Amino acid sequence: MLVGRRAEQAALEQLLARAQGGDSGVLVVRGEAGIGKSALLQHMRETAVAVGFGVQDAAGVEAEAEFAFAGLHQLCAPFLARAVELPEPQQAALGVAFGLHEGAAPDRFLVGLAVLSLLAEAGPLLCVVDDAQWLDQASAQVLAFVARRVGAERVVMVFALRDPGVTDGEAFSGLPELRLAGLGASDAQTLLATAVRAPLDDVVRDRIVAEARGNPLALLELPRGAPAVQFAGGFELPDVVSVPRRIENGFQRRANSLPADARMLLVVAAAEPTGDAALLWRAAAELGIAREAAAPAEAAGLLEFDFRVRFRHPLVRSAVYRAATPTDR
Ligand SMILES: Nc1ncnc2c1ncn2[C@@H]1O[C@H](COP(=O)(O)OP(=O)(O)OP(=O)(O)O)[C@@H](O)[C@H]1O
Ligand SMILES: [Mg+2]
Repeated sequence: MLVGRRAEQAALEQLLARAQGGDSGVLVVRGEAGIGKSALLQHMRETAVAVGFGVQDAAGVEAEAEFAFAGLHQLCAPFLARAVELPEPQQAALGVAFGLHEGAAPDRFLVGLAVLSLLAEAGPLLCVVDDAQWLDQASAQVLAFVARRVGAERVVMVFALRDPGVTDGEAFSGLPELRLAGLGASDAQTLLATAVRAPLDDVVRDRIVAEARGNPLALLELPRGAPAVQFAGGFELPDVVSVPRRIENGFQRRANSLPADARMLLVVAAAEPTGDAALLWRAAAELGIAREAAAPAEAAGLLEFDFRVRFRHPLVRSAVYRAATPTDR
């Protein structure tokens, strides 16, 4: 359940309603790490399914940012059977982009037209592209091209873009934006209350709310990372370090306190974008890491293993990946 975000939810719902009437729409949700972009996207998926839209996902993955068309492939994979109906030059361009045929680097304009047709055929459709700041450049360009051209196809595209991202998302500039600010004080207190079970002194609570500056991830994670004694005095000086950086530092500290094999397992998981647990365990076996290594990482609340591997938050993945030595990576 989302706390607050009424206006934002309404904006997204309106986008779906307009698309149902034949007026496709696009929105780029921007905001700092942990501000609630993915949470809002999840709410939108649920709303879309409830009103009869298909939902197709893709996400930028830090470790795949160098692979041309990787992100686009995620989005288009279920629709590729229809590619045979496309004009021959578009088919050829798409085939090369997705490694089905050999050939010179494909014309991105043709790839864009091909994707536009495939998505249009699949409407009503919501395309959700999370972590767009990590899309490979080719995918970002093509998706932005498609986003600028959707019209009457009953296709809605939403992108989440972390600000400031590595690329600053220039491919997406000019598209309609929704900037997420921090939660207001009363919503922030509501969310904090879900994270901290023990009753908090009003002064302490107000202090945490002030320091988190409405960032939901900070409200959920900072209390957990801070030893009880630090509650009374606040965590660190506000404004010196950005809120996402502070959360990331917290995750990094938690990771660094783990045994070496657990840390290495985290690095392997961070490098593996799909979250396929079987694949992860095969890689771990190659490195001589036993399954028991997972327990401390799970206990520290950094990731979960079942048949999928899930990081607590993308900031855990990036904290781990960035802290690893090039050799380990
Ligand atoms: N309005 C909200 N109500 C309740 N929980 C929220 C809300 N917004 C975010 N959260 C929770 O806060 C955490 C951080 O939010 P989220 O993962 O959506 O951030 P993000 O903007 O996608 O960050 P990143 O840039 O790192 O991907 C998540 O656990 C999410 O469920
Ligand atoms: Mg996110």
